[in-house]
Amino acid sequence: MDIKEKLEMIKKEAIEMLNSGIDLEAIRVKYLGKKGELTAVLRSMGQVAPEDRPSIGKLVNEANAYIEQAIENKKSSFMEKAMQAKLLAETIDVTEPGKKVDVGHRHPISQTEEKLVDIFVGMGFSVVEGPEIEYDYYNFEALNLPKNHPARDTQDTFYITDNILLRSQTSPVQVRTMENTKPPIRIISPGRVYRADPADATHSPIFHQMEGLVVDKGITMGDLKGVLELFAKKVFGENTKIRFRPHHFPFTEPSAEVDVSCWECGGKGCRVCKGEGWVEILGAGMVHPFVLKNCGIDPNVYSGFAFGMGIERIALSVFGIDDMRLFYENDERFLKQF
Ligand code: DAH
Repeated sequence: MDIKEKLEMIKKEAIEMLNSGIDLEAIRVKYLGKKGELTAVLRSMGQVAPEDRPSIGKLVNEANAYIEQAIENKKSSFMEKAMQAKLLAETIDVTEPGKKVDVGHRHPISQTEEKLVDIFVGMGFSVVEGPEIEYDYYNFEALNLPKNHPARDTQDTFYITDNILLRSQTSPVQVRTMENTKPPIRIISPGRVYRADPADATHSPIFHQMEGLVVDKGITMGDLKGVLELFAKKVFGENTKIRFRPHHFPFTEPSAEVDVSCWECGGKGCRVCKGEGWVEILGAGMVHPFVLKNCGIDPNVYSGFAFGMGIERIALSVFGIDDMRLFYENDERFLKQF
C-alpha cells in the first residue's frame, strides 16, 4: 500500500470511529497525537523519493486538517444536541396561569386593637406597653386591692410566685406610667391579660384589654365622658349614645360601667342587646386619690380619669360574632371572613 492509499485509509477509519461515538479525545490522540498514525506516516517519509516528499507532506497535512475538522464538527454537533436537550427540559410555558399565593391578613383582634388605638392616637393619646408577667404590687396592691381584698376574686389569675403573676388587667400600666412620668399624662395601653377562667362563649383564660389614663390639673368626669362619647361614635356609628351606670372599682372613685346604645336596634331592644337597648362595653372612673398618692402624684394638685375595655368584647360586637372561642381556634374558614 503506498502512502496515498494509507492516508485515505486512515481518514476513512477516523471518520468511522467518530461516527461510532467513541470518546473524541481518544480519537484525537490516536490519529493526531505525537504517537498517532499521521505522525507515524511522517516518520516513514525516509522511504519516499526526495522529489515526492513535498507533495506527500502536503497530503499528510491535509489529512491532519481533515480529521481535525471532523472532530470539531462532531464536537459542535454534540454540544448543539446537548443545548437542545437542555432547552427542552427547561422550557417555560409563559401562557400557563400563575401559581396563586395566598396572602393572609390581620387577625380580627389585631384589626380591632389597631382601630381603637388609631381613635385614641387621633385624640392625642400615646401608646405604652407593660409586662404580661407582673408583680402582685402593680396588678393589685398599688391599685387599692390589698391582699385578701374580696374584689381580687373576680380577677383570679395564674401565679408564678406569691408576688409574681400573669396580669389580670392592663390597669397596672397606669401605675407604671404614673411612677415614671410627670403629668400631663395621656396614654392608652393595649395588651394581653390572663384570668383563671374556663373558656366559654364570653370568657377566655387569655384575652386582650385596652387601658386609658389621663392625669392633669383640673381633669373632671366631663372630660372622661367627652372622650368616651367620641370613641363610641367612631366605633359604633355617629348616632351612638353612651350611658354611665354607677359601679365599683377599687382604683377609681367615682366609678362607672359604661354602656353604648345598641348599634343593632338603636336602643329599641333586640337580640343583640337582649332587649335592653344598651350594651356594656367598658369600666371607667376618676383615678382614686390613693392610687395617685401611691404613684407619687399629689391628689390635691392633680386629678385624672381612667378606663379599661375588653378588645374581644368590642370585636364581637363590631363583627357580629357570638362566640369568643372562634378568635383563638385559628380556623381559616372563620378568619377569612374578616
Ligand atoms: N381593669 C378593669 C377590669 O379588668 C377595667 C377597668 C375599670 C379599668 C375601670 C379602668 C377603670 O381603668 O377605670 O375589669
